[in-house]
Amino acid sequence: MKLDLPFLPARRVVSLVFLFTFFFICNLQSPGADPSGSDHGVSRADLRRGERFFKGLLPFDIKHESCISCHNLKASDSLNWNPSAMEIAIKYASRDFASFEQVVMSPSGKKMSEVHQGFEIEREDLAHVKSYLDEMVQTGYPQENMEVMWLVGLILLILIVFWALIELIFVKKIKPRIITVVILLGSFGWLTNILYTEAVALGRQEAYAPLQPIKFSHKVHAGLNQTDCFYCHNTAEYSKSAGIPSVNTCMNCHLIVREGTNSGKFEIDKIHYAFDNNIPIEWVRVHNLPDHVFFSHAQHVGAGKLDCKECHGPVEEMDVLRQHSDLSMGWCLDCHRTHKVQFIENKYYSSYKEFHEQIATGKIDSVTVEQLGGTDCMKCHY
Ligand code: HEC
Ligand code: HEC
Ligand code: HEC
Ligand code: HEC
Ligand code: HEC
Ligand code: HEC
Repeated sequence: MKLDLPFLPARRVVSLVFLFTFFFICNLQSPGADPSGSDHGVSRADLRRGERFFKGLLPFDIKHESCISCHNLKASDSLNWNPSAMEIAIKYASRDFASFEQVVMSPSGKKMSEVHQGFEIEREDLAHVKSYLDEMVQTGYPQENMEVMWLVGLILLILIVFWALIELIFVKKIKPRIITVVILLGSFGWLTNILYTEAVALGRQEAYAPLQPIKFSHKVHAGLNQTDCFYCHNTAEYSKSAGIPSVNTCMNCHLIVREGTNSGKFEIDKIHYAFDNNIPIEWVRVHNLPDHVFFSHAQHVGAGKLDCKECHGPVEEMDVLRQHSDLSMGWCLDCHRTHKVQFIENKYYSSYKEFHEQIATGKIDSVTVEQLGGTDCMKCHY
């Protein structure tokens, strides 16, 4: 069967693909390319100089570590104690160059004078760095642009695969045909590779550990300093929710502890900022049961006498808190079927006369959550 598609000659398809990409890229660039880049009288060239300096590409005889080796250009989810480039940029966007120069070049505080030691930076270079950081606040993480470029690349690949298929089956203009076959196989292979990597990444949800507004570490607090879980999650024993500590709770200690061994002043300063301006710290929730499920800490920690560890894992070893169990229905039921409740000398169970008698007469030696009704649908579902 031969199908002629006169309205789709190869050349037109190619030019359409390029036109499409061109407009896409133009559209993307518009927010960054608007005059905001030069509103402080800074030229593009100066911004690029600032960027190169920050990344340690300029000057060539640089004596200290580049800024980027400590101040990340992307938000990473493994704990990196240094503030990221964006965090610095936001903090100093509304401040003048003098205060930026002051903090970089005349470090105060223990950590800061350790890491910013012996900086020999020309005033002009540092000014360019400040402009570069100011610009970053306007344009967002460079990585975000990268991700859009990645998407464009993906669309382009798909289009090439389509074009090659159409060329091979219908148009048949390009001779020798092996060229089209190679293009087809190459782009198709690349595409499958990308999709495969993405699909594998999708499965990584169990150890969910979102970025938090402050680099709060359970390892430092519950581990090294052995602060009791209840000091901060003080409603766990008698209420549905375990509770997240308020800024005031942090201030009980951080009124005095102004600097951390790992992060210096930067992170703890955020607590003081929130306290002084009376704004809450917006922690990102890690655990999320669906709305149709009822779960209460009081039943488990208060009545059930369970340790936090049984559900949340070794929290005191985690720098970044992550979800330990999968929170599926099977997980809840498995424990309810097998877990023997601490029945004797527990005021919550004094009303279960029948079980108490059976234990007293030796008929049974333990009671599981299931026997108390812990697998009835209505107990967990509204
Ligand atoms: C000094 C205060 C403090 C102490 C002590 C503390 N926590 Fe936390 N906890 C927090 C803060 C702040 C958050 C929110 C930020 C985060 O998720 O890292 C949190 C979050 C959590 C979460 C995740 C909540 C969510 O969003 O789903 C769990 C689970 C948790 N803590 C368990 C524990 C356990 C178990 C202990 C004891 C081993 C403990 N915490 C000790 C302050 C504390
Ligand atoms: C019971 C006292 C106590 C409470 C409450 C407390 N902290 Fe801390 N925090 C400490 C101590 C002690 C250190 C360790 C200082 C050091 O590294 O020498 C610390 C260190 C830190 C650090 C720096 C870690 C490092 O190593 O650089 C951050 C950030 C921090 N705390 C945030 C918080 C937040 C946010 C809260 C409230 C949710 C909070 N802390 C509540 C005692 C406390
Ligand atoms: C060896 C690692 C390291 C290098 C290199 C480094 N920094 Fe830092 N910088 C840090 C750490 C850690 C902090 C937070 C310390 C603190 O707050 O006590 C910090 C803080 C800052 C702050 C914020 C200070 C504040 O508290 O408001 C600025 C601004 C800054 N750095 C700029 C730069 C610039 C510009 C460069 C490159 C010329 C640079 N840093 C190179 C580690 C580094
Ligand atoms: C039986 C398992 C279990 C035990 C034991 C347990 N938790 Fe939880 N925890 C959960 C589940 C499930 C959630 C999610 C609840 C939701 O999304 O409604 C949760 C959520 C949390 C949260 C997030 C805020 C909230 O209350 O919803 C914190 C904080 C927390 N737990 C701390 C603790 C601490 C501290 C202990 C020990 C005193 C503890 N948990 C014991 C299962 C448990
Ligand atoms: C590690 C063991 C364990 C896990 C995991 C667990 N539970 Fe429980 N649960 C218990 C124990 C022990 C009790 C008994 C406390 C009591 O009688 O109130 C209990 C009691 C309950 C009750 C009260 C039952 C009654 O008879 O009143 C509800 C509701 C409940 N759990 C819901 C859940 C949900 C929802 C989950 C999963 C998100 C879950 N549990 C996960 C151990 C667990
Ligand atoms: C111990 C607590 C518990 C009991 C008892 C329980 N469920 Fe669930 N159920 C859950 C939890 C937790 C989820 C959410 C699972 C998730 O998000 O993956 C759930 C989810 C579901 C869903 C939604 C589908 C899904 O997997 O997300 C259905 C339907 C359901 N349960 C039906 C029932 C029925 C019917 C019963 C009685 C035979 C029952 N459940 C008893 C805890 C329980």
